Amino acid sequence: IKEMPFFNKFSKHDMEKASSFAQEKWLNRGSFIFMEGDSGDQFYIILSGLVEINRFENGKKFVLSTLQAGDFFGEMALLEEGDLRSANAEVIEKTSLLAIDRCDLMSFLESYPSVSYQLLTTLTRRLRKTNEQMHDITFLDVRSRVYKKILSLADEYGVVLNQQMIINLRLTHQQISEMVGCTREMVTKVLIELQAEDIIDVIKKKIIIKNKLALSEKIVNDL
Ligand code: CMP
Repeated sequence: IKEMPFFNKFSKHDMEKASSFAQEKWLNRGSFIFMEGDSGDQFYIILSGLVEINRFENGKKFVLSTLQAGDFFGEMALLEEGDLRSANAEVIEKTSLLAIDRCDLMSFLESYPSVSYQLLTTLTRRLRKTNEQMHDITFLDVRSRVYKKILSLADEYGVVLNQQMIINLRLTHQQISEMVGCTREMVTKVLIELQAEDIIDVIKKKIIIKNKLALSEKIVNDL
């Protein structure tokens, strides 16, 4: 188990505590861990890989979140008896997980109050992000939503290399459109414009932010 450098993720230490309550699972890209509407009996912590939390509406995908090592999911259907999975969990890069059964989750959380606290702070952060998204969908035009998504991906997946911020995820225009809730064509258009303005660069499907200030200044409230 590698040490997780990111804030707000389960640490190596937390994972070790969890491992005595859990089984390890390996899943290949493209498989679904569960689907929206399933009944749920396990909670998951990601050891390595990438898991997308998404929903489909009329055949269109909307991505709620992309989770990586140290992130957890699947708590919602477990904490409230009888609740169903609120979204799909899809493996987008080969992933290993710790899977904890409902009954063991309760004893795990009771044994380690610090882990419960970690869980709470992460849930609060997710709620904050959801509120922010609601605001964006209500008040921002599509272009601004794409700019904001690039900045938030940089916060979450950004690494600094040669004084430039690289979003360390290979992203297709389709994937970005599914995060923003717009068409793929619109993402393509906006990324071309930003490259022409020398604000970003895209190399091997990774976005490099060359001028973060200019990017944030382009965000405009429409109403
Ligand atoms: P559950 O409802 O059991 O199954 C789907 C899971 O996706 C859910 O639990 C949460 O763990 C996770 N999830 C749902 N909504 C979000 C969100 N907005 N951001 C991150 N994770 C989420």
